[in-house]
Amino acid sequence: MNALSKLGQLRSSPRVARSVAHANIALVKYWGKRPGALPDLNLPAVGSLSMTLGELRTETEVGPSDAGDQFVLDGETITGPARSRSIQHLDRVWRAFGAPESRPRPTLYIRSRNHVPTAAGLASSASGFAALTLAASAALTTCFDGLSAPREVYGPLSALARRGSGSAARSLWGGFVRLDRGTHDDGSDCRARPLFARDHWDLELLVVHTAKGKKPVGSTDGMNRSRETSPYYAPWVDHSEADLDAAEAALGRRDLAALGDIVEHSCFKMHACMLATRPPILYWNGTTLEVIRALWEARARGLEGYATSDAGPHVKVLCRAETATALSESLAAVPGVLGIDRVAPGPDATVEVEL
Ligand code: PMV
Repeated sequence: MNALSKLGQLRSSPRVARSVAHANIALVKYWGKRPGALPDLNLPAVGSLSMTLGELRTETEVGPSDAGDQFVLDGETITGPARSRSIQHLDRVWRAFGAPESRPRPTLYIRSRNHVPTAAGLASSASGFAALTLAASAALTTCFDGLSAPREVYGPLSALARRGSGSAARSLWGGFVRLDRGTHDDGSDCRARPLFARDHWDLELLVVHTAKGKKPVGSTDGMNRSRETSPYYAPWVDHSEADLDAAEAALGRRDLAALGDIVEHSCFKMHACMLATRPPILYWNGTTLEVIRALWEARARGLEGYATSDAGPHVKVLCRAETATALSESLAAVPGVLGIDRVAPGPDATVEVEL
């Protein structure tokens, strides 16, 4: 019996459940899958550490459907691979709570609203799969009674969310979160845990938009290509644990210079590993680089901020709340910048069940 089936029993008929999960941005990055692990477990080769984002979130409702499984995102019925990925995740939730092979999952609808630009390197899959894991678990099982979710469920649910998208494991909690790489073959110890609450430190993230549209290479495909071909992949993996420990310590003592140094180092190591992949993976555009240069110039003038970026061309800048306005004005002047969002650390994911 696994951790989840001990915590909740399957229900004979699903309920309607609504969840909200916030996106997160990795301050120490994850890039790469654990070799030899079952692809469905989606086990990372490295741990990661993130800040949950205040305004950027996904709201998801899951409930019984007489018309077969359905996935509606922002009012549009989704078909193809994006649908399959979400429906497959419903099956994982059903099995994780101990459903025998002989017992089919009840058909469900998923209705999601993304308050995150979808698939543009802004981690909509993190909030999306965290929200889906919570709402589906609440709809299908007895472990959520009423308005609040028991906290002991969040750890095992984080491991389940990870199977939908690695970064989703980190979106169950607010504030600052660490995803442990773990060692168990079944991935049960590869789950996130909250490090510091959202009010631990008055930090903000400036999301500097530098392009519209979807990313050219999906993260799973990119990670596999990097592992197979990038000569920088092994050192990238080897140095990750030390970065995580140093970042956690810097966060704990609220040392922005020390944290920022690791944030930029982790980001540039990951992108160096991507660039050295064959064929190369390049998520940045010219504006990405100009924003990073402008940020460094601003820092030299005393406006302290540190850059990170993910599988997309946008730049995210970590800074103190008191510096955010001046820094944002200075970066908005860079030609090619489309807009800047200011985001504070966000809250825990939540779920409500209709009783
Ligand atoms: O969770 P995925 O499969 O979308 O991968 C996320 C990878 C990065 O965003 C590049 C880094 C991270 O740790 O979030």
